Amino acid sequence: MSALWDTARAALTERLSESGIRHSLAVAETAGRLAEAYGVDIEDARLAGLLHDWSKDTGADELLAAADLLGIPVTDVDRAVPYLLHAPVGAVELTSVFPGLSPAVIAAVAAHTYGTETMEPLDLVVYIADTIAPGRSHEGVELLRAAAGVVPLQELFMLAYANSLRHLVDSRRRIHPATVALWNKLVSEDQR
Ligand SMILES: [Fe+2]
Ligand SMILES: [Fe+2]
Repeated sequence: MSALWDTARAALTERLSESGIRHSLAVAETAGRLAEAYGVDIEDARLAGLLHDWSKDTGADELLAAADLLGIPVTDVDRAVPYLLHAPVGAVELTSVFPGLSPAVIAAVAAHTYGTETMEPLDLVVYIADTIAPGRSHEGVELLRAAAGVVPLQELFMLAYANSLRHLVDSRRRIHPATVALWNKLVSEDQR
């Protein structure tokens, strides 16, 4: 494991709860396995998995203030559900805390809640890992786990994203505009 991994791992214990750290390690492990299966950089995947929830325990007001300060677009949905901002805010914060992190890792952290329209393979891997890591028990998770490494990466992501969207609709939650934009793009590219 790299020195950056050790530093990041130690820094996390100062920020996240015990269960948060357990989840981060599970996502790192899962992201590493997915990266191996799909030919994505394994070290980047593990690091992004480890650090993806860097700002998860940051409060709503602080996230909104940080987003404003950092120039991260804040939509009505972000104001209603500031928790979503833990991904982009965490990503920007990580760039200053760990200057050695690759831009690809930062981008994957930024994209893990509502996505971006340009999802690179590493972004897909981290998003999926967050969804299917050990400890996750939502409806449909077993199906996603069974499909991991079997169906193409883009298809696996589409299954995972559809599952998340279904959950948002079923529980009558807001859908972020970036999530809608990404879904529409995925559908327009769907080769099936
Ligand atoms: Fe998260
Ligand atoms: Fe997470």
